[in-house]
Amino acid sequence: PIVGVIVVAAGSGTRLGAARPKAFAALAGRTILERSLDSVFGMQREAQVVVVVPADLVDEATALVTDAAGAAAEYASVVPGGSTRQQSVAFGLAALGTSVRIVLVHDAARALTPSAVFDDVVTGVAQTASGIVPGVAVTDTIKRVDEDESVVETVDRAELRAVQTPQGFPRAALDAAYAEADREHTDDAALFAAAGHTVSIIDGDALSFKITTPWDLRRAEGVLADSAV
Ligand code: CTP
Ligand code: MG
Repeated sequence: PIVGVIVVAAGSGTRLGAARPKAFAALAGRTILERSLDSVFGMQREAQVVVVVPADLVDEATALVTDAAGAAAEYASVVPGGSTRQQSVAFGLAALGTSVRIVLVHDAARALTPSAVFDDVVTGVAQTASGIVPGVAVTDTIKRVDEDESVVETVDRAELRAVQTPQGFPRAALDAAYAEADREHTDDAALFAAAGHTVSIIDGDALSFKITTPWDLRRAEGVLADSAV
């Protein structure tokens, strides 16, 4: 395939505080990882899918991925992650085949991301050859503060976007940006931009919110109950 999707699922989920690593915690009766894989394998385009999980869960994840992939199982694999998200992405990149020209990196924790967002990000990368990141407008009023929590200013919300995943990039440029990264970046788009590349925002989706806390998990369960997905 020309498209590769790396699903990072190797985090421990400290803030969620579930009994299992976050991607393996239950969301309305199925794991967060299974929900995410539904979205990934719902893409219109054929893609190589690399799922990055905690080392001791590679076998368990392989069974889930094989199930979710169906006929696409030939292009799906599971690899062990690292101690930071950035390391986990790097291990995923190393597992991509030589045919891949466009890479999407996705947080398994964004379990309800619509499949259409993945296809939109691929289209954006193919058309622009820049980094493409889904984002949404910020609804809260944002204040900049100093060390004493005194308000310095109100930030103009119109120029802010809350960004999500999947984030998409031309493969060769992302590989090179990862190879030269000398520190941890807050997301793949920041690492890519630090290497001198352009990143553009496309419309994200409210359903792509990240499950971080128990409250987020309840929100996701509420969405699934409403839509009977
Ligand atoms: N991730 C990963 N490898 C790591 C850390 C994070 O693959 N070493 C993945 C997580 O599995 C998750 C995504 O990166 O899908 C976003 O990270 P986050 O929401 O912070 O998940 P966790 O790190 O697991 O959660 P926490 O920070 O609360 O421990
Ligand atoms: Mg984390």
